[in-house]
Amino acid sequence: MEQRRVLKTKLIFTFLVVFNASITCTFASDTVSTNQTIRYNETIVSPQETFELGFFRAGKSMNFYVGIWYKKIPNRTVVWVANRNTPLKHTSGELTLTLQGVLIIRDVTKGYIVCSSANSSTTSVKNPIGQLLDTGNFIIYNEGEGINQEDPIWQSFDFMTDTLLPGMKFGWNLVKGIDRNFTSWKSDTNPASGEFTYKIDTRGYPQLILTEGGVIKVRGGPWDGLRFTGISYLKPNPYYNFTFVVNQREIYYQYNLIDTSVLTRLVLVPSGRLERLLWIDNKQEWSLYNSPQRDDCDQYAVCGPFGSCNIDNSPVCSCLKGFEPVSPDQWRDTDWSQGCRHTIPLDCNPGEGFNIYSNLKLPDTRGSWYNQNMTLLECEKMCKSNCSCTAYTTLNISGTGSGCLLWFGALNDIKRFAEEGDTLYIRVSASEIDSIKNRRSSNAGRRIRVIVPVSFVALAILVSLCLFYRSYMKKQQHQGTPEHEREHDPENKSDDEDLELPLLGLSTLVTATNNFSVDNKLGEGGFGPVYKGVLEDGQEIAVKRLAQTSTQGLHEFKNEVISISKLQHRNLVKLLGCCIERAEKMLIYEYMPNKGLDSFIFDRTQSKLLDWPARYRVIIGIARGLLYLHQDSRLRIIHRDLKVSNILLDTDMNPKISDFGMARSFGGNQIEANTNRVVGTYGYMAPEYAGDGTFSIKTDVYSFGVLVLEIVCGEKNRGFTHKEHGNNLIGHAWGLHKEGTSLELVAKCLGESIDAPQVLRSIHVGLLCVQRHPEDRPTMTSVIHMLGGEGPLPSPKEPGFYVGESTQRFYEGSYEASSTNELSVTTLNGR
Ligand SMILES: *[C@@H]1O[C@H](CO)[C@@H](O)[C@H](O)[C@H]1NC(C)=O
Ligand SMILES: *[C@@H]1O[C@H](CO)[C@@H](O)[C@H](O)[C@H]1NC(C)=O
Ligand SMILES: *[C@@H]1O[C@H](CO)[C@@H](O)[C@H](O)[C@H]1NC(C)=O
Ligand SMILES: *[C@@H]1O[C@H](CO)[C@@H](O)[C@H](O)[C@H]1NC(C)=O
Ligand SMILES: *[C@@H]1O[C@H](CO)[C@@H](O)[C@H](O)[C@H]1NC(C)=O
Ligand SMILES: *[C@@H]1O[C@H](CO)[C@@H](O)[C@H](O)[C@H]1NC(C)=O
Ligand SMILES: *[C@@H]1O[C@H](CO)[C@@H](O)[C@H](O)[C@H]1NC(C)=O
Ligand SMILES: *[C@@H]1O[C@H](CO)[C@@H](O)[C@H](O)[C@H]1NC(C)=O
Ligand SMILES: *[C@@H]1O[C@H](CO)[C@@H](O)[C@H](O)[C@H]1NC(C)=O
Repeated sequence: MEQRRVLKTKLIFTFLVVFNASITCTFASDTVSTNQTIRYNETIVSPQETFELGFFRAGKSMNFYVGIWYKKIPNRTVVWVANRNTPLKHTSGELTLTLQGVLIIRDVTKGYIVCSSANSSTTSVKNPIGQLLDTGNFIIYNEGEGINQEDPIWQSFDFMTDTLLPGMKFGWNLVKGIDRNFTSWKSDTNPASGEFTYKIDTRGYPQLILTEGGVIKVRGGPWDGLRFTGISYLKPNPYYNFTFVVNQREIYYQYNLIDTSVLTRLVLVPSGRLERLLWIDNKQEWSLYNSPQRDDCDQYAVCGPFGSCNIDNSPVCSCLKGFEPVSPDQWRDTDWSQGCRHTIPLDCNPGEGFNIYSNLKLPDTRGSWYNQNMTLLECEKMCKSNCSCTAYTTLNISGTGSGCLLWFGALNDIKRFAEEGDTLYIRVSASEIDSIKNRRSSNAGRRIRVIVPVSFVALAILVSLCLFYRSYMKKQQHQGTPEHEREHDPENKSDDEDLELPLLGLSTLVTATNNFSVDNKLGEGGFGPVYKGVLEDGQEIAVKRLAQTSTQGLHEFKNEVISISKLQHRNLVKLLGCCIERAEKMLIYEYMPNKGLDSFIFDRTQSKLLDWPARYRVIIGIARGLLYLHQDSRLRIIHRDLKVSNILLDTDMNPKISDFGMARSFGGNQIEANTNRVVGTYGYMAPEYAGDGTFSIKTDVYSFGVLVLEIVCGEKNRGFTHKEHGNNLIGHAWGLHKEGTSLELVAKCLGESIDAPQVLRSIHVGLLCVQRHPEDRPTMTSVIHMLGGEGPLPSPKEPGFYVGESTQRFYEGSYEASSTNELSVTTLNGR
């Protein structure tokens, strides 16, 4: 039965091919639609005739490939190869696009699939079309929807071969788990994957590395805000500009043409050299513009740990100031592999400090830790407080400098430049500290001592104000809202009966928040900033000002306000009022003096205030609040942006879920929905939501699981790094759970306060919540039962998003696998 269906499809298929071929032999088009077939000698050409896609033969071999090359360059320069490791052996191949948006290279004589692009799991496919753009990108998108370069069905730019073209993103799409790296050809005439790969390594702060068979050969190093620390030649130039982006969704390097008539490419040649080439039209040849591999100091870690390489010296290696060779004899014989060590060994004495070293290529950042928001002073403090921290520096030197980068253990692959280069602060013993630096450190210490008492006074004031404020609000609700404040809004009259909330006037809130001054800003929630306000008689409120660009209409806003105002639960932040006036929409919440849970569990000092029993109460409280949203409230509410900073603590450290700006209510029995706009916070987003935009109560359960692990561990899921693996906190927790050593996860500051069975149970439940498949995750009802109960728990399955993972890749099918063939052909028949 199955066989017959396959056969029938093949016949139709052959017929189509013949039919097509009889009409046209070369496509002048830049597109491939689902009913077209590209065969040997046929190509498609980008609109401005910059690039051409088709079959080509590599050298004199009988290997044939599908690739993209420059149309106008006579000596064919291939920039992309689809089937580099699975060549066709003759000219009877054909390229087709299936109705499912899958690109297939098929050997017609043998009937098998040589290579196919995986379908996308994020975009639903409808009338797919493939188009070759003038950037050299072959992109598959839904014809009716136009080109969406951010999230196409598939694009060749996500699967680079050995060439980085302008506009390509080199690096990571963290949401889809795509690692875009490039690998050399085996030889000039063999596109098969060679030994050399250039990639962005994310084991620590992202850095460029060139590997040979997996071993680092050359390190471009981390981006310092202006350039890659190890690539001194990468400077502003007339041909291209460049940028490096690190955020929660992406980490990538990209260069773009300033003058679009220039042809340039960055290619990893078979010998392992990275070359930036420019096309010289009047000579009709590619010329080498530059290459990061310039001298002996570019070999990875040539001078060993704590050694520094300077090409102007002879020999090139020396120990950093305050360091000496580990093995003086070998060092003299120019065997630098053992490197250097501190002249006076470190012993974690509190007198230890840091010396400044300038004009350096920053050391290997594998295993490093970073934070984009800390100041240099905070960075120093953090490094000093951890004895295994050996060095620190500013993460981003552009502007006034920001962020913090810490190294632990040996510092490898340092190079010294004659000029420019970066600054590094390296830990040394007390007697080695340069005197100028010494003075600055002691000043820093004094400043910090002053801050502590002030914050206590402030806390006391806030607590009393809050108590005062509660009684005010009762009074306020009793009195209702003054008439004159309502008349500004012509639209609200008919809805007034529905709004059980006081409406506050814009002018009242402008005064209360000091005209929404920056100083009053408490933070940025979903859909807008939140300000602290003080009403005329001294009462404090939190005002959330919805961004004017928010697409939410007035009607929807009112609906949301009405539904939220009806939510009453001790673990939810209470909505006190709202303001709808002109283009402004604002929500007024009770003010929580203790701020977010994040300011407790992620802060070294504050975290001590939350011992295990308090944390357990927080976990249970959040679970109850969430259960109320999911089940017990009249509407089924999905929060969609549950995270530590959205959990506020009241004066008794009771958790209250806040920020419903992204929440969606579901009517009746609706269980799942889909959104075109994924909102939320990376690190807390369930895979099905980050990927497909599908959300359900289980999306919140996933975020709850992440929260539990973060509360237990005192570390952020995102930003968590571990020396031995690249997993995030979830992956780390899962690994420890499997080994039965989950208690290692517990935050150090919890010390004696932990109740081991309760901690283990919490971690276990947390892992059940972060399971990859929503159907495996428990509901909040069972979560509460499991947390409080004592019975055995089910074993968690693999979590979602515990490490970069691929959801979309160009894979190469095997020759023999007839099942692959059947599968795809059957799919073709399906329509
Ligand atoms: C083939 O594609 C062309 C262009 O997209 C379209 O005009 C034509 O109707 C299609 N033919 C079939 C049989 O689908
Ligand atoms: C491709 O074109 C060349 C020259 O026009 C011709 O000799 C050759 O037979 C063609 N090959 C195929 C497979 O059509
Ligand atoms: C064309 O390429 C071949 C092989 O790569 C090379 O030997 C030849 O010099 C090139 N010709 C020109 C004009 O660049
Ligand atoms: C991708 O392919 C798999 C297996 O063929 C299928 O189950 C899935 O629905 C496809 N996804 C899309 C978006 O077409
Ligand atoms: C390059 O990226 C591919 C696809 O994401 C991945 O499978 C491969 O492991 C990466 N190569 C290296 C050396 O990391
Ligand atoms: C690079 O130049 C292009 C074209 O002038 C411009 O559109 C782009 O914004 C520039 N990018 C950066 C990072 O400066
Ligand atoms: C860092 O600051 C930026 C903007 O200043 C903010 O969006 C981001 O959430 C902050 N990150 C952390 C980890 O606090
Ligand atoms: C110091 O930092 C390392 C690496 O991040 C970490 O494993 C260790 O627990 C830290 N030690 C202290 C005392 O914080
Ligand atoms: C570095 O800082 C500058 C100026 O503050 C900012 O524009 C840029 O985005 C930052 N770069 C990175 C990679 O964070």
